[in-house]
Amino acid sequence: MIVMGVESSCDETGVGIVRWNGDGTCDLLADEVASSVDQHARYGGVVPEVASRAHLEAIVPTMRRALAAAGIEKPDALAVTIGPGLAGALLVGVAAAKAYAAAWNIPFYAVNHLGGHVSVDTLEHGPLPSCVALLVSGGHTHLLHVEDLGKPIVELGTTVDDAAGEAFDKVARLLGLGFPGGPALDAAAQEGDRNAIAFPRGMTGPRDSRHDFSFSGLKTSVARYVESKERAGEAFSIPDIAASFQEAVADVLTMKAVRAAKDVGVDTLVLGGGATANSRIRSLAEQRCAEAGITLRIPKPRLCTDNGVMIASLAAHLIGNGAGPSELSVATDPGLSV
Ligand code: KG4
Ligand code: ZN
Repeated sequence: MIVMGVESSCDETGVGIVRWNGDGTCDLLADEVASSVDQHARYGGVVPEVASRAHLEAIVPTMRRALAAAGIEKPDALAVTIGPGLAGALLVGVAAAKAYAAAWNIPFYAVNHLGGHVSVDTLEHGPLPSCVALLVSGGHTHLLHVEDLGKPIVELGTTVDDAAGEAFDKVARLLGLGFPGGPALDAAAQEGDRNAIAFPRGMTGPRDSRHDFSFSGLKTSVARYVESKERAGEAFSIPDIAASFQEAVADVLTMKAVRAAKDVGVDTLVLGGGATANSRIRSLAEQRCAEAGITLRIPKPRLCTDNGVMIASLAAHLIGNGAGPSELSVATDPGLSV
């Protein structure tokens, strides 16, 4: 069975094609992505209207490129991200996927973007045991319990304010490092001292039993620090601020992910989302998982960011588990949880 996945929830138009092997794994046949990230740079963040327009222009050429790369005329099933994401951006991918599924007369599957981020790991690392997943990107910060990719996923926690990647982008802007800020801040942090400034770790107290996150206090704290230094006419080190901020985010994310895995009683942690490219999140996750006897699985960076392969892979798992197709009348759901 060959499945095509279409992704358009944020600023990436992704079309992936996989072959389901029937054993919890897929082979990758095509992975085409067109990104509008450059068009958002001058605004300092993703502009929904600009993203929708870019999807509209890119969707059909990206689908055609994926079919050519896979060497097929049409897949056996077509899946699309139904949510969560930007309303107008989702609409473009969903409308295109419905139209192609109807024209090709093949089953149509509306799937959840978050599950896709977890499922994509099976392409590189094989079938997934019961695990906890930590998703960190510009749009989401989630801790999930995934018992089986073919079954419903349980949300253990999410951010109560900013997403982790969003905090990186906002702090990078504050420090004049550009957009997307995550990679620039990571690079600046390499020259800094991560213990220079003790920025707050939100929602890490013993009473925070749910596995939620909060990053807006941290972001404000960085802003206050810079303001106070400027007011006092004192010099400050951007690398030290970047390294100390990055340490606070990585500390909270990895500490809570390991805590969640222990609470749920699983010994595998999967990372996903664009911000898992962060060098300190990776190294601290490796260190803490090793200490806790947890196996850490991180897909390669290309598959961590939004793409169509993850949607095809999740749909293949659902179909393999006996899920029936979705109605073509299904609506997008920008606020979808798991
Ligand atoms: O998954 P993604 O490509 O798109 C979505 O937001 O869905 O993730 C992009 C996010 C941006 O916020 C970007 O700043 C962040 O991931 N990011 C990083 C790094 N590379 C990308 N954040 C911290 N450190 C990085 N090295
Ligand atoms: Zn995503």
